[in-house]
Amino acid sequence: MKKKTSSSSSLLPPLSARHVFWFGWKLVIALSISLCLVALLRLQYSSQESDDDDLSRSSSSFSSSSRFTPRRSRISNVPFQGPPKVAFLFLARRNLPLDFLWGTFFENADVANFSIHVHSEPGFVFDESTTRSAFFYNRQLTDSIKVGWGEVSMIQAERLLLGAALADPANQRFVLLSDSCVPLYNFSYVYSYLMASPRSFVDSFLDLDQKEGRYTPKMSPVIPKIKWRKGSQWISLVRSHAEVVVDDEVIFSVFKKFCKRRPPIDVSKGKQNSSVMLSLISVGNTLIEVSCLFANMQKLQKQHNCIPDEHYVQTLFAMHDLDGELEKRMVTYSLWNESVTNMENKGWHPMTFNYANAGPQQIKRIKDIISVYYENEHRTEWCSNNSTRVPCFLFARKFSRGAAMHLLSGGVLGPFDASVLFDTQP
Ligand SMILES: *[C@@H]1O[C@H](CO)[C@@H](O)[C@H](O)[C@H]1NC(C)=O
Ligand SMILES: *[C@@H]1O[C@H](CO)[C@@H](O)[C@H](O)[C@H]1NC(C)=O
Ligand SMILES: *[C@@H]1O[C@H](CO)[C@@H](O)[C@H](O)[C@H]1NC(C)=O
Ligand SMILES: *[C@@H]1O[C@H](CO)[C@@H](O)[C@H](O)[C@H]1NC(C)=O
Ligand SMILES: *[C@@H]1O[C@H](CO)[C@@H](O)[C@H](O)[C@H]1NC(C)=O
Ligand SMILES: *[C@@H]1O[C@H](CO)[C@@H](O)[C@H](O)[C@H]1NC(C)=O
Repeated sequence: MKKKTSSSSSLLPPLSARHVFWFGWKLVIALSISLCLVALLRLQYSSQESDDDDLSRSSSSFSSSSRFTPRRSRISNVPFQGPPKVAFLFLARRNLPLDFLWGTFFENADVANFSIHVHSEPGFVFDESTTRSAFFYNRQLTDSIKVGWGEVSMIQAERLLLGAALADPANQRFVLLSDSCVPLYNFSYVYSYLMASPRSFVDSFLDLDQKEGRYTPKMSPVIPKIKWRKGSQWISLVRSHAEVVVDDEVIFSVFKKFCKRRPPIDVSKGKQNSSVMLSLISVGNTLIEVSCLFANMQKLQKQHNCIPDEHYVQTLFAMHDLDGELEKRMVTYSLWNESVTNMENKGWHPMTFNYANAGPQQIKRIKDIISVYYENEHRTEWCSNNSTRVPCFLFARKFSRGAAMHLLSGGVLGPFDASVLFDTQP
């Protein structure tokens, strides 16, 4: 017995070391697989749980809103004094860098014919110290929210702007503008163009790009796939349509649930939610954990992937069967970089106009456009305001200060007053 023990002990060390090694190796693999599974399940469970929460809420409001009979909390034809107004709604990051240009634009307007509302970052006040144009003084919303570009907070900001403008019954047209937008015509032209159209200008088309998964079947049955639309965020609405947007809770809550911002694929982000796996990677068991990490990241990607500002209003209007009340095009021009063939990059990166490419010829070329071709639907949209053929674009976006100065000095917005360019404030 003793001998055996000793002999086995003399024999065993290499054997048991191998055993221990293999056992340990298997244990690590088993452990990492199970941790991986647990992490995935937790992710699944937590997203499921919140989905269920929200879906039960949204489907109950769905049924109570009686299948998209438009809920109109305000009566569209509230009487008001004076002329109908165009509401200019600015979505700004902070200040309005092109305020000097808009100042000239509004100077040539009748103050009774328009109103201005600005959504800027919370707490940002428009006054002498932050804008060169008195038209913007105190025009910021007091209930603005922190906006993440490409997040659902963006459409919430739009809804806040529309809501604020609806408070004035004289506002009959509602134009959404970014802080880099410029007008291409004088005020009276823009005013009569918009007022002449009883329809909203919303480019809305079928979103056939399903591989990107902008639409997720989880949105069904509240939003069926056939109602999913895509289009530009920079729209112009008539009053009744602005009310549809502000009154909507059902579609918005679905977007809120399923259109979370896509987290960038980088390790530091992964660390937050996949710390277990990352620490395992450091042990050296790379293959399994890395694939597990990627499964997780892919899931996050899928889950958060839908660009709300390019789908919300369009899909909402399709749900309300308003397609027939729209001019399915936009009045705001942007130039896509032709050399970028990938649709996705195109979607995110319109070209910025600078001083050099905002000269009279370029501006004229934009103003001369009278039709738009929608590739997805093989549809050519001839631009009209209530069946009168008109140029397509009233505004253009992605203008730098230099480009805006060039435009202004061209005198297209009215008499050109050079002093606005030399007023260095702010
Ligand atoms: C505004 O622009 C239009 C078209 O460009 C022009 O016909 C009209 O005379 C301008 N009006 C004023 C008041 O400048
Ligand atoms: C202001 O509105 C009135 C009434 O709609 C219109 O006649 C007038 O031309 C407008 N003024 C400008 C500068 O657009
Ligand atoms: C829009 O159409 C109306 C006719 O419905 C026309 O009188 C008006 O001049 C047009 N506006 C512009 C800016 O072309
Ligand atoms: C649009 O055109 C129709 C028919 O041409 C006309 O009855 C209507 O008043 C016009 N709408 C506006 C807002 O000018
Ligand atoms: C990680 O999870 C937390 C809560 O579990 C969440 O607040 C955070 O947004 C997640 N981070 C990423 C990058 O998804
Ligand atoms: C278009 O994009 C390409 C590649 O991203 C870039 O090299 C080029 O300068 C861009 N052109 C313009 C006009 O922005």
